[in-house]
Amino acid sequence: MTDDAPFGGQVALVTGGSRGIGRAIAIALAGEGADVAVSYRKDAKGGREVVAAIERLGRRAVALASDAGQPDETEDLVQKVRTQLGAIDVLVANAGVPGPRGWEAVSLAAWRETLETNLVGAYSLVKSARPHFASRGGAVTFVASISGLVASPELLPYSVAKAGMLSLTRSLALALAPKIRVNAVAAGWVRTAMTAPLHEAAGPRETLRKGIPRGRWGEPDDVAAAVVFLSSDLARFITGETLVVDGGGSLRWTAGVEG
Ligand SMILES: NC(=O)c1ccc[n+]([C@@H]2O[C@H](COP(=O)([O-])OP(=O)(O)OC[C@H]3O[C@@H](n4cnc5c(N)ncnc54)[C@H](OP(=O)(O)O)[C@@H]3O)[C@@H](O)[C@H]2O)c1
Repeated sequence: MTDDAPFGGQVALVTGGSRGIGRAIAIALAGEGADVAVSYRKDAKGGREVVAAIERLGRRAVALASDAGQPDETEDLVQKVRTQLGAIDVLVANAGVPGPRGWEAVSLAAWRETLETNLVGAYSLVKSARPHFASRGGAVTFVASISGLVASPELLPYSVAKAGMLSLTRSLALALAPKIRVNAVAAGWVRTAMTAPLHEAAGPRETLRKGIPRGRWGEPDDVAAAVVFLSSDLARFITGETLVVDGGGSLRWTAGVEG
């Protein structure tokens, strides 16, 4: 691989990159030439495996433990990336947790953890990373969800957090203009550990699949492709936008025909 690659000579940081969508994003960016740092909270083994996969692509990689819900850890994370790989060109706030089910019996502690990891963590990451961006600027992408676009009482704190992330996208796009672009992807149903209880059970798997016009569940690579695009020079005039990556699933919801 040469540094003529789209992200040749660039440094990316992907939070929650030890598995699932974050892993796919990290490997896809490395495949396009980036050196990549991934963070995780507990999954050190997954982090090491991603580093090995990226190194096999001929790129530098580092995996760092950092809780996305803790602002002081976010500060430390970006400092380490700067020191170990260099100034940041591409930032992907992907770390997330689904939070509790339902809307009635949600504890304050569960609200806090879900909002702090998915939403406040994304804000802290950008705030901490800002002084460490390359002088020419960079691209931030938030991994949000279609849950942030539609009513979702069955996963209330999560959907509120992801809706907040879409608002954060627009506000930070203005705040960080002109040098840093900020966009989001709103992913639909994607086969990862987070959705395993649904895609590993035949009934829910099939019911949800039938609601997706493209006729299948999303794969982590489907989301990674959109993040690579938004992070790239091809998206150089796009900022403050949300790109829905759901195989058309939410089209039915807006038409009022669920499932
Ligand atoms: N799967 C879907 O259908 C879907 C749809 C829409 C949006 N999304 C979003 O996509 C993102 C990735 O989800 P996924 O499906 O790939 O989930 P996943 O397979 O459960 O992976 C989550 C990743 O985030 C990390 N993580 C979780 N909490 C963290 C924290 N506090 N600090 C740092 N890292 C943390 C995990 O590492 P540790 O295990 O070490 O904590 C792991 O690397 C999330 O933001 C999710 O909301 C997913």
